[in-house]
Amino acid sequence: MDVTAIYPGTFDPITVGHIDVAERVSSMFDHIVLAIARNPSKKPLFNLEERTELAQEILKPLGNVTVLPFDGLLVNAAVEVNASVIVRGLRAVSDFDYEMQISGMNRKLNSDIETVFIAAAQENAFLSSSIVREIASHGGDVSEFVHPMVLKAFKKKLG
Ligand code: COA
Repeated sequence: MDVTAIYPGTFDPITVGHIDVAERVSSMFDHIVLAIARNPSKKPLFNLEERTELAQEILKPLGNVTVLPFDGLLVNAAVEVNASVIVRGLRAVSDFDYEMQISGMNRKLNSDIETVFIAAAQENAFLSSSIVREIASHGGDVSEFVHPMVLKAFKKKLG
């Protein structure tokens, strides 16, 4: 049976932590759809098109990963791409309550879709897109945390 998993997030921008999760799940499922939420409430630094383009270029080497920008409910995006699994990365215990709440609600909305949690690599446990944005906005070095293409995008955006 062909299994498609959807890996959602805001990805503002995609970090090495997200890439690690995408790489690991790409060998677990037949197809991965990295779904990028527009998420205007988070007031993203990179617009949806920029976030999508970066993820597409960076994840190209993983042959079975496609990138989908989406608006609205995650479970609807999952149905659209025929995904039966939602993948979420867990970095620390502090992620757990929130993730349990979201996965429970997603199950209520569509009980055919199962959420699977992947433990983030230890070295990425402290990482988040907003911390990376904060460091970059003050001219700090984020090369350890993001792909060179994201570094370039930061330089273009922040000067
Ligand atoms: N490595 C590094 N950082 C990671 C990570 C990893 N493995 N996994 C998550 N993160 C970071 C993200 O960078 C992000 O950082 P930030 O908050 O500083 O920007 C943070 O953890 C939160 O993760 P993210 O993947 O961005 O999730 P989110 O909480 O912003 O978005 C959605 C979650 C998009 C999946 C959720 O809002 C959603 O499903 N929206 C659609 C609407 C919907 O269906 N709502 C109902 C849900 S019940």
